Amino acid sequence: MRFFTAFLSLTCLFTTISARYDLSISNERRAALEVPQRPGFTLTWSETFSKPGAISSSEWQFDVGTSYPEGPPNWGTGEIQTYTNSLKNAYISQNEHLTIVPLQNPKTGTWTSARIETVEDSFKCQPGGQMIIEAKILLPGGGMQEGVWAAFWAMGRKFRRNGNDGWPMTGEWDIMEAVNGGNTTLGTVHCGSFPGGPCDEPNGIGGTANIVRGVFNNYALRIDRTSQNWRKEYLSWSVNDVEYHTVSGYDIGNYTTWSNLVHEPFFLLFNVAMGGGFPNAWAGHVTPTPKTTPGYGMLVDWVAVYNK
Ligand SMILES: *[C@@H]1O[C@H](CO)[C@@H](O)[C@H](O)[C@H]1NC(C)=O
Ligand SMILES: *[C@@H]1O[C@H](CO)[C@@H](O)[C@H](O)[C@H]1NC(C)=O
Repeated sequence: MRFFTAFLSLTCLFTTISARYDLSISNERRAALEVPQRPGFTLTWSETFSKPGAISSSEWQFDVGTSYPEGPPNWGTGEIQTYTNSLKNAYISQNEHLTIVPLQNPKTGTWTSARIETVEDSFKCQPGGQMIIEAKILLPGGGMQEGVWAAFWAMGRKFRRNGNDGWPMTGEWDIMEAVNGGNTTLGTVHCGSFPGGPCDEPNGIGGTANIVRGVFNNYALRIDRTSQNWRKEYLSWSVNDVEYHTVSGYDIGNYTTWSNLVHEPFFLLFNVAMGGGFPNAWAGHVTPTPKTTPGYGMLVDWVAVYNK
């Protein structure tokens, strides 16, 4: 009986493996195999990074250089790397993971890395509904990671349509931010006016959770608009389905600001920055340091958007 059970599960394993590597399989079927169901929710969009090599330019656009055209220098955060669209800095690995790798030029000491945005910019929670944006991400342990700043986040489409301008009123959801190789993730919103305003810019309104490095964890933001009263609408951040932070309409207080932050369509971003105000503040000194190890970035197994 034991033998029979073992044989059965082995058969299942082989079926799964051959399905995974069958290139004729449709993207929808791949997503169904890899991305979890969320009971009551419809899978609106997903990317499973299942084709090793270059990142799909029909789904993703690269931000390159050190700013948006005519945007603030160093991407407005003080980060010091130059973003490239080189396969060295960002690619889909043989294991089917989006891989973003900061690298240092050994002669000049300068850093490169990558930042990508979804071409799709219509991710939106309908009135009365809910939306979940979730990704399965591995942040590596080890090395000297002072200055490494990995992020999974989203910005309002109005920002993009406005020539990458109008932040923070156009809204920002930081779903996962982790710096300096630490065991903490941050979930934050940015909104309203700069400096100060209802989101206390440049800080934003954030919460933290402990994470384990070297393994994949699920990072999710859920938007809940099921209340008729906008002040009771809220954003909820979780790691592996455990909620650790919420922000409601009551917290923001101003309907115009809340509407820009929660009712408008957004696009998603993944990036690994080097240095800047945030990792510097956490380290208590300027980062990266001469000891910072190149090559420690982020892996993403899949990213999905669900609506209800
Ligand atoms: C993170 O946790 C690991 C494992 O417990 C530990 O070795 C490491 O020192 C921690 N890192 C920091 C920055 O606290
Ligand atoms: C809400 O914010 C908008 C945009 O900053 C501002 O014009 C408006 O005066 C604010 N409303 C209130 C009631 O403070």
